[in-house]
Amino acid sequence: MNLPGVPTYSRALGAKLDTVIRQTAGGPPADLADIAREELGVDLATQYGGMRIPHPFGKASGQLSCTVAQVDDDVRAGLAFVVLKTVIAEDATGGRSMEAWTVRDTKMRVEERVASSGRTGWTVTWTGRGWHGTLGEYLAFFEAALAAAIESDVPVIPSVKFHLPAGGEPFRVAEYEHTTAQLLGVWTRVGCGGAMVLEKDFSPTLAGDARAADLEGVLRWLENVPGLVDAAVPDGVRLGIKVMNAVADDDSQLAMLHTLSHRAPPRPAFLVVFNRLFDRRRGVAFGGWDLSDRNLRVLRAARERGMALPPLSATGNICSGRVMLEYALLGCENGQVHTFFQLPHGAYTASAGTRSARALHTLLLHPAEGLVPWLWHLHEAGHLEPSGGVLRFRDVIGRIDE
Ligand SMILES: Cc1cc2nc3c(=O)[nH]c(=O)nc-3n(C[C@H](O)[C@H](O)[C@H](O)COP(=O)(O)O)c2cc1C
Repeated sequence: MNLPGVPTYSRALGAKLDTVIRQTAGGPPADLADIAREELGVDLATQYGGMRIPHPFGKASGQLSCTVAQVDDDVRAGLAFVVLKTVIAEDATGGRSMEAWTVRDTKMRVEERVASSGRTGWTVTWTGRGWHGTLGEYLAFFEAALAAAIESDVPVIPSVKFHLPAGGEPFRVAEYEHTTAQLLGVWTRVGCGGAMVLEKDFSPTLAGDARAADLEGVLRWLENVPGLVDAAVPDGVRLGIKVMNAVADDDSQLAMLHTLSHRAPPRPAFLVVFNRLFDRRRGVAFGGWDLSDRNLRVLRAARERGMALPPLSATGNICSGRVMLEYALLGCENGQVHTFFQLPHGAYTASAGTRSARALHTLLLHPAEGLVPWLWHLHEAGHLEPSGGVLRFRDVIGRIDE
């Protein structure tokens, strides 16, 4: 199935959409997904890490999920989930082998970027890395962030960078044990219950690091990390692996997917595909259309090879409902957004509210780019039938070949 440049839908639906946009643009409510179902006939519900979420758009780990105030805004805006900034793992003595990833924040620059396809998009230029503080400070932040979200049932998820050995060096198991157990302790204490969803980040700065030049070494990390996390707290974690974008070719990317799907016991609960690209010349990570083009191309190649992947969470240039739909057709259940929450106000359909609220409004309702009109388009084009009187987002996941 190929998507055209603009969606086709009836005038009557266009008028309904227009009404909803006018009613909500001055202050987008947190329950836009309910409005989409009741007023616009579209059920956006899906899953993240095995949890039900009302629509697919969540916040990706990074500089926009470093404080409780940011999480609070996201919950009020109605984001589907929030992944917190990545913390650097520690052992019980406070030792951390990935210390080099704990640099202090520098200022982010939101810039236009022309992709190799010639298309102009957005990227954020930033030279920081992981959470700058200690694990202890992160645990306090995680606890407060969970408390801020628990009533509204918005999943708030920690993200970790554990030790990754170079060459034949052993894994520092003590960092896996201590950090995972401490995070699970917070999760349980706040009353979240069940296994904790946890993301393990393989970042673009790591992709640019000398140790990632050795593909065999990277595959060894991927083979071992799920088992190390599970051994730390048996059955206590539903692990999402955020896969890096290798500086090397698409085949390396596919080798990583193959390893994670078949040779990394226990099988990860989900994969986040794929973190930002790395510009070796400038020494910075970047996104924009180059990122989504590569991610979608690799996901398509994985399908063509018949790889049975774990559930997928998309990330990378999700700047419209249309891009979310492209990822969904290739099997992604939800999308993790960073850059689109940082655009100039004029880029959004809403005229008031936090950037999270305005961005969500745009991603769902934009008349030419929003997810709701694009689901209507799939119906018009004969690819999607209603179920229980509504068109369901979850019915398009993985349906690229139809
Ligand atoms: C400034 C900045 C900081 C980031 N920090 C992290 C991080 O700590 N951990 C992580 O897993 N991803 C991090 N990311 C990657 C984002 O989570 C996201 O996956 C990526 O930017 C692609 O989404 P986007 O195109 O919407 O920005 C960061 C991205 C940016 C722009």
